[in-house]
Amino acid sequence: IKKIGVLTSGGDAPGMNAAIRSVVRTCAYHEIECVGIYRGYQGMIEGDFETMDARSVKGIINKGGTILKSARSKEFMTEAGRKKAYANLQKENIDAIVVIGGDGSFTGAMVFNQEFDIPVMGIPGTIDNDIYGTTHTLGYDTALNTVVEVIDKIRDTASSHDRLFFIEVMGRDVGHIALNVGVAGGAEEVLIPEENLGLDRLLESLHRSKASGKSSSIVVVAEGDKIGKNVFELKDYVDEHMSEYEVRVSVLGHMQRGGSPSCFDRVLASRMGVKAVESLLEGKSTFMVGLLNDIMDLTPLDQAIKGQSKINLELLRVSDIMTT
Ligand code: F6P
Repeated sequence: IKKIGVLTSGGDAPGMNAAIRSVVRTCAYHEIECVGIYRGYQGMIEGDFETMDARSVKGIINKGGTILKSARSKEFMTEAGRKKAYANLQKENIDAIVVIGGDGSFTGAMVFNQEFDIPVMGIPGTIDNDIYGTTHTLGYDTALNTVVEVIDKIRDTASSHDRLFFIEVMGRDVGHIALNVGVAGGAEEVLIPEENLGLDRLLESLHRSKASGKSSSIVVVAEGDKIGKNVFELKDYVDEHMSEYEVRVSVLGHMQRGGSPSCFDRVLASRMGVKAVESLLEGKSTFMVGLLNDIMDLTPLDQAIKGQSKINLELLRVSDIMTT
């Protein structure tokens, strides 16, 4: 392998820039070329490439977002689109790819590898932490810290007005963010996609907390929560069934994906970039790098895509006990 292409794809996450930096510098260290591919697979189809050396990635380790930009390419899902992409890689003599993204991006990498036999390596980047084969995805730790800071602020106004807040956090399919920030932010209840706690239990818990002398409450709701009601519907439901609380809603949205990466995410990104490039140089392909027991490990891409990233049941119990 003499030239590696790197791209970011899917939803962006803090730490992606630190990972790009690591991939580029590991290539420079091993004296091979590195090419940045803009806008994920779409840029590959359009030949939107830029040669990168160690100095091209200066000053980005602390920056949120991705300097290579990100996209979800519909065209790459077609055979014709992937053919164009491969032709561009051949023209540029790129002979391996590092894909920084989530499971959708990895699925694209797998198909591409099967069709053209080009070596691919995945780096998990998503704030959702919903990928099997790593205890932490890039951006997850930063997002947790961002959300906790916001919950603390909402708590200030909630307690000044004796209000109940439903706070919606990201997590389409998994409750990692919701559960962790719920515990860290002292939430009354946490509603997640993995478990249906039921509306009765929610009301019961809110009644109980009011009776025990709490004046304000925070309920953290993952956007894909299993109760099947969004935060506005939950507010209406509680308004209908309880008169004790004045209820407000806060949807945190995409601010959770931005910001300077935490120390943890910067270190993780640096480790993942080194492992991804060096694994390719060792002749490995179709793996995802991941953090398991504090070791940089490899998981076959198909397992990373299909495997379930399970929420921590012990943490769920801690969350329950903390609402006493
Ligand atoms: O990055 C993952 C995620 O934040 C999900 O939790 C959320 O549903 C989704 O991205 C929204 O992303 P977009 O607005 O880019 O489609």
